[in-house]
Amino acid sequence: MINTKAKAGIAIAIAGVLVAGCASSLNPFAREADERWADYKTWTKITEGKTGTGDPTGLIKTVHKGPDGYRDVYVNDIGKAALEGSAPYLFPAGSIVIKEQFGSKADWEAGKNAGVTVSIKATASDTVNRDDWIWADSYTAKAGPSAFCSGCHTAAIASDFVFTHADFLAAQE
Ligand code: HEC
Repeated sequence: MINTKAKAGIAIAIAGVLVAGCASSLNPFAREADERWADYKTWTKITEGKTGTGDPTGLIKTVHKGPDGYRDVYVNDIGKAALEGSAPYLFPAGSIVIKEQFGSKADWEAGKNAGVTVSIKATASDTVNRDDWIWADSYTAKAGPSAFCSGCHTAAIASDFVFTHADFLAAQE
C-alpha cells in the first residue's frame, strides 16, 4: 500500500512533469536561435573600428535598414580565413556571415534594436554556386533557400555571394 508521504511525492513529481510540459507549450511560436549561430556575438566582428553606413555598392536601397542605417558584420571561425583573405573568395562549407543592422547611429552606438540577417554556406562546390547558400532573415528565423536574398547577393557572385570581404573593407577605409 502506498503511504500518504509517497502519494504526495508522486503528486509533486507529476506536477513537475506538467509544469515542464507547459513551459514549452505555453508559446508555440517562441523559437530559439539556431545553434549554428546562437553565439555569433563571440565571433570575429570584422567591422570592428569601422563605421558601416551609407550605400557603398548602390544596392542597399530599402534592405538592411537602408543607406541611413548602420551595420556590423560577424563571421564564424570556419569562414574567417576566406573572408579575411583575398580574391578569388570561396568559402568552405559551414561558413556563416551575420549582418547586424541598426536604424540609426544612436542605436548602433548603444547596440540596441539590431536586425539580424544570416548567410550560411551549407554545402561547398568547386566553384561559386548559389545553391550552396541558405539564408535567414532574423536571429530566430529558420534558414533556407531564398530567391530574395540570393537574387541581390548574386551581384557579389565573384566573391561567393559575400559583399563584405577584405577588399570591400579596405576600400571603405
Ligand atoms: C537588394 C539587395 C539585397 C538584398 C535583397 C539582401 N541583401 Fe544582404 N547585403 C546587400 C549588400 C549591398 C550588402 C553589403 C554591403 C553593404 O553593407 O552596403 C549585404 C550584406 C549582407 C551580409 C553581410 C555579408 C555580406 O554579404 O556582405 C549578410 C549576412 C546579408 N547581407 C544577408 C542577407 C540576407 C539573409 C538577405 C535576405 C533576407 C539579404 N542579405 C538580402 C544587399 C542585399
